[in-house]
Amino acid sequence: MDVQILAISGSLRAVSSNTAVLRAAAILVPSNVKITFYSGLGELPHFNPDIDIEPAPLQVDAFRKQLKQSDGILISSPEYAHGVPGSMKNALDWLVGSGELVEKPVALINTSPRATIALASLTEILTVMSAKIIDKANVTLPIAGTGLDEVGIASHPDMSACLKLVIEELANHITKSKQIK
Ligand SMILES: Cc1cc2nc3c(=O)[nH]c(=O)nc-3n(C[C@H](O)[C@H](O)[C@H](O)COP(=O)(O)O)c2cc1C
Repeated sequence: MDVQILAISGSLRAVSSNTAVLRAAAILVPSNVKITFYSGLGELPHFNPDIDIEPAPLQVDAFRKQLKQSDGILISSPEYAHGVPGSMKNALDWLVGSGELVEKPVALINTSPRATIALASLTEILTVMSAKIIDKANVTLPIAGTGLDEVGIASHPDMSACLKLVIEELANHITKSKQIK
C-alpha cells in the first residue's frame, strides 16, 4: 500500500540542518513510501482570521491541498528564542479552522538536543489541533552544528537507522489506519 508523506521544514535557511534531515529521510524511504516537500512556508501570508474565508489566499489553498493529499506529515523545525519559528507557527495557524491536521499522523524530528522548548511547544500546538503525533516517530538527532548534509546524514550508520525507524513507524501507522477504514 503506497504511503504519501509531506515533509515540512521549519527553517527557511538555504543550508538548513532541518531541511537536510528531511531530505535524508527521503533518500532512505522504502519503495512504497513517497516523500514530497512543502516549500511555501516563507510565501504564506500572515495569518489573519479576516482573510481566512472562501476563497482562501492562493498560497494557503495550495498548502491545504498538499496536506489533504498526504497520508502523514514529517516535520523538522528549529528553535528560535525558545519558541517555534514564526513562519512555522504562522503556517499551522492557517490550519486551525480548516482542519487538515485533524487525526493526521505526524512524525517530529528535532535536530538539536538543546532545543527542547520549541519541541514541547510544537507538540502542544499539534496536539491541540488534534494531529496524531506518533510517539515512536518522534526523535531527536544531534545534527545541528555538525555540517552534515542530506547525503552525510543518510550515510551515517546511527542517524540513518534512526530515520528509517521514524519512517517505518509513521508508514506502519498509516497503513494500519487505511486497512481499518
Ligand atoms: C535568531 C535565532 C534564535 C535562536 N534561538 C535558539 C534557542 O532559543 N534555542 C536553541 O536551542 N537554538 C536556538 N537557535 C539555534 C538554531 O535553532 C539552530 O541554529 C538550528 O540548527 C537552526 O536550524 P537550521 O539549520 O535548520 O536552520 C537560534 C538561532 C537563531 C538564528
